Amino acid sequence: MKELLAGRVAVVTGSGRGIGAAIARRLAEHGAKVVLTDINAEGIETLESDLVTKGYEAKSMVFNVADFDNIPKQVERIHAYFGRIDIWVNNAGITESASIESITHQQWDRMQDINLKSVFFCSQAVFKIMKEQCYGRLVHISSMAGERGGRGSSASYSASKAGVINLAKSFALNGGQYNITSNAVCPGRTLTEMAKGLSWLTDPKDDPKLTIPLGRFGTPEDIADAVLFLASDLSSYVTGIALDVNGGLYMR
Ligand SMILES: NC(=O)c1ccc[n+]([C@@H]2O[C@H](COP(=O)([O-])OP(=O)(O)OC[C@H]3O[C@@H](n4cnc5c(N)ncnc54)[C@H](O)[C@@H]3O)[C@@H](O)[C@H]2O)c1
Repeated sequence: MKELLAGRVAVVTGSGRGIGAAIARRLAEHGAKVVLTDINAEGIETLESDLVTKGYEAKSMVFNVADFDNIPKQVERIHAYFGRIDIWVNNAGITESASIESITHQQWDRMQDINLKSVFFCSQAVFKIMKEQCYGRLVHISSMAGERGGRGSSASYSASKAGVINLAKSFALNGGQYNITSNAVCPGRTLTEMAKGLSWLTDPKDDPKLTIPLGRFGTPEDIADAVLFLASDLSSYVTGIALDVNGGLYMR
């Protein structure tokens, strides 16, 4: 199994905890050299030392995906360090539960900057490198909210995640001729720190046994397994999709 990503260099944004950390761990377990990036230095440094202790190759770099002027420099720094970038996972993100009536311009802009604009400009910077390599796997973490709109999360969040699904398609359409695939993953209700602020975790009406066909909330590892597929050559002929990983919740 280790051969699945042998020799590949993978970057995961927002990998200091939660889904991003699980993705980085899964890619490392399958042989990738992983670059752990986040604004939370402690999270990525702890994960780096854990992975390195286990014999995997990992490097942590503090990287704010919303520091737009710095993105090309940061991507070049990673490229210079490992000599290539094969896999880029746009995972970093924020959420909030603000009502339609209460969302301010500042909240709206912050949400789009971190969740959407960053995805475009990180992908743009790495796209150049992937074109030269004639190889790339872009994976973008969207959300079920990006497909159906926001109820527990805010409308600004769901709009940003809808944009991510659309960007996945634009990079897929433009990257195909260079052997670059670009796909989105849409997690459903996944147990992380982010979820602690959302109503579905505690509302009895959202009991997963009643609302989710598979009868449980998702784990970060559930999402990481889907990313592994899209980051590997098992998905060589898959591009431009939004892969639902939600226990069947979206059918309800
Ligand atoms: N948890 C869920 O139920 C769920 C559902 C659907 C989609 N998602 C998406 O999955 C992704 C990961 O979510 P999570 O649940 O692990 O959240 P989380 O809050 O536990 O982790 C998010 C990570 O992103 C980092 N981050 C935030 N802003 C950043 C920035 N500007 N630059 C770099 N890193 C930054 C944080 O420091 C944190 O380590 C997000 O894009 C989120 O929208 C989560």
